[in-house]
Amino acid sequence: MEKDLQKAYLESLDFKTSSTGKNADTKLWVVASGKGGVGKTFVSSSLGITLSKLGHSVVIIDLDLSGANIHTSLGLAPSHLNVRHFFEGVKGLQELVIPTPHPRLSYVQGFWDSWTPTDFSYSQIQNLIPEMKKLRADYVIVDLGAGALEAHLDLFKAADEKFLITTPEPTSIEKTYRFIEAYMCHSLRENSTPDAYGNMISTLRNHRQRTLEKPFSFRSYLKEQTGINYDFFEALSSAPVRLIVNSARSQSNYDLGHSMKSVCNKYYDLGIDYLSSIDFDNAVWQSVRVREHVLLSQPFTPLAGQFLTTCKQLIDPEELRAVV
Ligand SMILES: Nc1ncnc2c1ncn2[C@@H]1O[C@H](COP(=O)(O)OP(=O)(O)OP(=O)(O)O)[C@@H](O)[C@H]1O
Ligand SMILES: [Mg+2]
Repeated sequence: MEKDLQKAYLESLDFKTSSTGKNADTKLWVVASGKGGVGKTFVSSSLGITLSKLGHSVVIIDLDLSGANIHTSLGLAPSHLNVRHFFEGVKGLQELVIPTPHPRLSYVQGFWDSWTPTDFSYSQIQNLIPEMKKLRADYVIVDLGAGALEAHLDLFKAADEKFLITTPEPTSIEKTYRFIEAYMCHSLRENSTPDAYGNMISTLRNHRQRTLEKPFSFRSYLKEQTGINYDFFEALSSAPVRLIVNSARSQSNYDLGHSMKSVCNKYYDLGIDYLSSIDFDNAVWQSVRVREHVLLSQPFTPLAGQFLTTCKQLIDPEELRAVV
């Protein structure tokens, strides 16, 4: 049955040609967070459903090593075919793409039968990234586990769009900043000599031990250093991290994203984008219990509208401007 579905799916797609008729390059969207349980899987599946409803072909890849649950979020039973088969060299990534009952939406099942502790090696991630970009889809969305692990940062860096999910809880906000710091430093490391990078980290630690009040100006520090590519640091702001505040319940929660953006500017000299806030809605977890995604069971709600606006802002900002 699974094989038949997969065959039908492959036959229905011309290589890299979506139902929109465009022969576009596959775009890689990666969804990460500092803290666990903040809604990465919900956001990944919702972005996928929304893009597919807009006529784009989408593959969601579950790379949460701590336990796969994209299938649960989509209301599907786990597939025996899963990403473990790619890492073990048994299957190509395209062969692992499983269609869902929803048009243009498919997914790659995450680890759920490895039994042993699993971690990604550097070479596994470097092999995976080009394969993801070769998939027959307009958009590939990666749902990660929580935290700034090396592999997560590598995937985040390779993404065409980088989504960082926070809730309005102080614990989540704090871990979001730690994720951003790790992402900046990880990116700078590749563009620095080991000495210059080591000096920068000890300067940052000294600065933080002395004061939390005074911002550290990366701009002036890096401009004075040799061994670290300053232009590269500036470039980080032009492919910005897209912050999403999930489970918002009040005006102050909606405003949080603006404050976090200002903090990144002030404390790191880093431009980030506050992409959107998503309402807290009991229907989200209730729909998971009955195995039907809320955007499919209730497609005309404010929540569905928030995901539509979020996607359009990225894929069709002109059209959105015309409506507003
Ligand atoms: N906007 C929301 N409103 C209400 N409940 C939500 C919302 N977003 C997520 N949830 C619920 O919060 C819980 C955690 O969501 P989810 O599994 O998507 O988080 P996660 O970041 O992927 O977690 P993990 O780090 O374990 O992978 C789930 O029960 C989900 O249904
Ligand atoms: Mg998750």
